[in-house]
Amino acid sequence: MTVFVSGELPGDGTSVLRESFDVVVDGGGVASDAFAAVAGEVRGIVALLTDRVDAALLARCPALRVVANVAVGIDNVDLDACRARGIVVTNTPDVLTEATADFAFGLLLAAARRIAEGDRLVRAEGRFPAWTPTFMLGTSVHGMTLGIIGMGRIGKAMARRARGFGMRVIYTQRRREPEALERALGAAWAATIDDLLPLVDAVTLHCPLTAETRGLLSRERLSKLRRGAVLVNTARGPIVDEAALADRLEEGAIAAAGLDVFEAEPRVHPKLLALPNVVLAPHIASADRKTREAMANMAAANVHRVLSGHAPLTPVS
Ligand code: GLV
Repeated sequence: MTVFVSGELPGDGTSVLRESFDVVVDGGGVASDAFAAVAGEVRGIVALLTDRVDAALLARCPALRVVANVAVGIDNVDLDACRARGIVVTNTPDVLTEATADFAFGLLLAAARRIAEGDRLVRAEGRFPAWTPTFMLGTSVHGMTLGIIGMGRIGKAMARRARGFGMRVIYTQRRREPEALERALGAAWAATIDDLLPLVDAVTLHCPLTAETRGLLSRERLSKLRRGAVLVNTARGPIVDEAALADRLEEGAIAAAGLDVFEAEPRVHPKLLALPNVVLAPHIASADRKTREAMANMAAANVHRVLSGHAPLTPVS
């Protein structure tokens, strides 16, 4: 049985798969010639979020049984098309929750307190100008009200961190969490994003990219944020109107942003590149060694299990 692995993985997932299957690895992913050569017989794909797994691809893979995404987000996979062909899709929840929340909180601190901007300044000058009471003033993080959009695993992990920083938390998602959990997290529910935005000093996104959330933070919604607010996005770029965000950052209406994801990755909006008040990261929120190994191992285990007739560990329903 042939398994395609979309590039080099950390950990030993690929070698474990090699013990049972014919494994083809190519960093070009499902767009590579190596994939094209085995598409007709491939049973399992360990896919990256950069692989587009759509109906056209599936039509080339009549033997395919499982697509294991090395990511918690699965917006790169056409779930309906997979379902129609009886193909199991899996993702990597839980193992990246804390790493992603760490990074999102890091972006919040870096953006609000101008850490990356300060680093650039010191490097450019080889020194810093004399210390003065008005130099590089940022926005306080402690005491902020943090708005969390999407109170899933990562949203909750953000709420726990916010508590430690003495922040108030307001979250929004369709389903309200049980009161006991809200109390434990110190989080209040807002019924809609439009209710939440005017109440918060910073907003962090932790919802999946779906047809519903594409463009969720539109130009109009961004203008509902308080003046001087901070925005953090470690979810998916297309949830935010990037051009509108760049305009608000340029005007100073939004004080700062920390972005790990972009609308048209790996391209970054040219206006964002030129702005000093945005921290830009190359989609690395889950990129600590232990976490990435756990994600890759989980994806490999999912392929292994499905192709040996067992239930996957983490199916996407
Ligand atoms: C990374 O972006 C992921 O979805 O795991």
